[in-house]
Amino acid sequence: MQFLFCFLTQNVALFMYLGNKWSEFFIIVTTLTKQKETMPEKNWMIYGANGYTGRLIAEEALLQGLRPILAGRNHKKIKSLAQRLNLAWCCFDLKNPEIISSYLDRIALLLNCAGPFTATSVPLAKACLKSRTDYLDITGEMEVFEYIHSMNEKAREAGVVLCPGAGFDLIPTDCLAATLKKYLPDANYLALAFDSKGPVSPGTAKTIIEGFKYGGMIRKNGILSAVSLAHKVRKIDFGSGPKMAITISWGDVSTAFYTTGIPNIEVYVALPERAITLMKILRIFRFIISLEPFQKLLKKIVDIKIKGPSVQQRKTSRVHLWGEVINSKGDSVQGEA
Ligand SMILES: NC(=O)c1ccc[n+]([C@@H]2O[C@H](COP(=O)([O-])OP(=O)(O)OC[C@H]3O[C@@H](n4cnc5c(N)ncnc54)[C@H](OP(=O)(O)O)[C@@H]3O)[C@@H](O)[C@H]2O)c1
Repeated sequence: MQFLFCFLTQNVALFMYLGNKWSEFFIIVTTLTKQKETMPEKNWMIYGANGYTGRLIAEEALLQGLRPILAGRNHKKIKSLAQRLNLAWCCFDLKNPEIISSYLDRIALLLNCAGPFTATSVPLAKACLKSRTDYLDITGEMEVFEYIHSMNEKAREAGVVLCPGAGFDLIPTDCLAATLKKYLPDANYLALAFDSKGPVSPGTAKTIIEGFKYGGMIRKNGILSAVSLAHKVRKIDFGSGPKMAITISWGDVSTAFYTTGIPNIEVYVALPERAITLMKILRIFRFIISLEPFQKLLKKIVDIKIKGPSVQQRKTSRVHLWGEVINSKGDSVQGEA
């Protein structure tokens, strides 16, 4: 059965608001901030604000009438951005937990845009528990989702929201997974896929480079299982004819399990055949790519070469999503968005 999604499911309403449009994202930011109105002196902060995505969010926040405090580890870059936008700012790195906590003490909501998040989400989320600050980030990294999920009880006790993944990774795909599950409640297999032609941001490119270290990942019988890069290849029709797609370690392999309870999950990305061949070749060199000096070199190249999508590219780029659930009888439901 084929159908088109409108992303309107009750149990994922928060994620829908966070993810679908910038304006809706800011509705949530405003709401979370207001929850702490008993402490009126508190404000909200964007950490990693001088990065490609942080800067876009800061600029959009201003357009929405919000005035976040800008933060990051680079004094010069943060100060210059804050002066251009006429916003308050502060500078601290993430090495010392006491220092992080001292900066978050008067902050109601932290939006972490400093990625790769494997290095930033743990110290910031821990500090948020201490300062009773709500935490959002825009990660798509599986280990971050698993780690923050493990902090669930502590977050409840502290009365704070810890919500990683409040971006394209992974709100739309999570909504798709939840909707498919509604259509086939006894599904035991879920495949999600996306097809995007737009260029990636610098931080996303670095996160992909880090991802090579871990190879591929799928969920099998409820357990996260390591597999090779491009473990499976299949044809997927995103609405304009079949395209080749390969499995990738996308955040939904972690999170769709918590959303749907489906024990077998694979996430695919559409790629040209040449890129698929390259991914298979990279399997052989994965060990070398994982070495720290090589990782540093590749990230340096990203810093020099990748500046992120231009305004025009952001306006015209489209992402197509596809999903499928199957139950033990072989019944299946597919959806696109
Ligand atoms: N969910 C989504 O839809 C979505 C969309 C876009 C990006 N992302 C993710 O967001 C992250 C950022 O992407 P981007 O393109 O904006 O990156 P970027 O332009 O490279 O900016 C990264 C920012 O994070 C800071 N940072 C990095 N590592 C840090 C560390 N260890 N400690 C403190 N600050 C650190 C950088 O500070 P310096 O300037 O001092 O280096 C910079 O401010 C990436 O992980 C990317 O995958 C997600």
